[in-house]
Amino acid sequence: MSMNRRSFLKTSVAASAVLAVSHAMTEDKSRPIRLGIIGTGGRGTGLLQTLLLFPQVEVPAVCDLVHNRASQAASLVERKAGRPPEIYAGSELAWERLVERADLDAIIIATPWEWHARMAVAAMRAGKYPGSEVPAAITVQECWDLVRTSEQTGLPCMMLENVCYFENVMALLRMAREGLFGEVQHCEAGYQHDCRFLMFDEKGELTWRGHHAVTKNGNLYPTHPLGPVAQWMNINHGDRLVSLTSVSTPAKALQHYAARKFGSEHPAARRAYALGDVNTTLLQTANGRTVTLYFNLMTHRPYDLILRLEGIKGIYLGTNDSICLEDDKKPSEQWEPFAPYRQRFEHPLWKALRGPALSSGGHGGAEYLMFHDFLKAVQDKVPAAQDVYDAAVWSAVFPLSIESVAKGGKQVKFPDFTSGQWKKKPPVPVCGA
Ligand SMILES: NC(=O)c1ccc[n+]([C@@H]2O[C@H](COP(=O)([O-])OP(=O)(O)OC[C@H]3O[C@@H](n4cnc5c(N)ncnc54)[C@H](O)[C@@H]3O)[C@@H](O)[C@H]2O)c1
Repeated sequence: MSMNRRSFLKTSVAASAVLAVSHAMTEDKSRPIRLGIIGTGGRGTGLLQTLLLFPQVEVPAVCDLVHNRASQAASLVERKAGRPPEIYAGSELAWERLVERADLDAIIIATPWEWHARMAVAAMRAGKYPGSEVPAAITVQECWDLVRTSEQTGLPCMMLENVCYFENVMALLRMAREGLFGEVQHCEAGYQHDCRFLMFDEKGELTWRGHHAVTKNGNLYPTHPLGPVAQWMNINHGDRLVSLTSVSTPAKALQHYAARKFGSEHPAARRAYALGDVNTTLLQTANGRTVTLYFNLMTHRPYDLILRLEGIKGIYLGTNDSICLEDDKKPSEQWEPFAPYRQRFEHPLWKALRGPALSSGGHGGAEYLMFHDFLKAVQDKVPAAQDVYDAAVWSAVFPLSIESVAKGGKQVKFPDFTSGQWKKKPPVPVCGA
């Protein structure tokens, strides 16, 4: 595909219309969409299973560092297609050959974080549409690389932020657009998920996630909570994130966990970890609104994204899945269950695809809806509702929070990755399939 920078930017400014475009058309089963998958560990295999549910999807190539993982993924493809995909494996750079294949439309990236941006940039340079796992980048330079490569090549890039497709998140997007909360002033959200078991292998050696916990201190997984919030608050669409300040507690919980699991004399229990147990980041927008993000993989606790949406006329809180809206006929300041609102304000995409989404699994159907949008965007060669600027801005919290924590919580500025486009971009609309 060739699109010059100007036409791409025009398309990007109209990115909100993309949801409309991608939702307005039915799936074109006659034209296959050919995908290459890089990274077929836990997540990549799950994504592949969801993708294989779409009739238009073909997977001619899979890649993993570990051959056995790639061949397991290949057998899933073979079960659907009747023939196996080509396998690229055995070296850290085997994916470079996959990306260069002439027969691929898009590349799904589900490798460790440090590879995402490099692979997405290479995909765009090779003329393919990347769909990258979260976060899409882990340095500010990588965020710029994604934006500039997309602008230079005319290829869009979607970060696969699945939480934006959760049923409550999409119903809330519709409610926010219909004005039920009034002007949204503040949101609070977090990735709070005891993931200590993912930091070590069975012998107590560090996994790739564990290595990040040894070397980095900040919010290392910002996009699950920030994606929905950014859409509710029209970040990059009339407002933008301008600064953050971030602080972390000391790092104690991973040593505690390792001592219980591997014994107090095990190196995993005696090593120093950089990543504080609880990181708190306060973001400010150009229009003066605020977002608080929490990041906690380390303490013994139930999973909770918080997802508090607070407007002048009401509040939603995901922790108790409750809502309180201004209403003269009801006693004020009482929480009400959100379930009836979720039904009443069901997002049209959920209405249209509820059956196949729910039977697909994948975070309660969210991945199915996400790929519905991704595949339409690939087919139409346009940016998806989550465009490259969202990928850059949402991911930038990773490096900027590290910088702020290292400077004792000093305020750090966000670059304007959109180069001013945020002022003109209309909000992401609420459209059906
Ligand atoms: N969106 C979500 O809900 C969600 C859930 C889980 C994981 N993730 C993301 O998915 C990604 C993968 O996570 P995971 O849990 O599957 O990890 P994993 O360790 O299970 O899988 C990663 C895979 O990448 C492979 N790999 C590493 N380097 C490679 C390279 N250079 N080339 C090819 N393959 C390489 C590994 O061998 C492994 O099989 C991460 O970015 C993670 O944050 C997202």
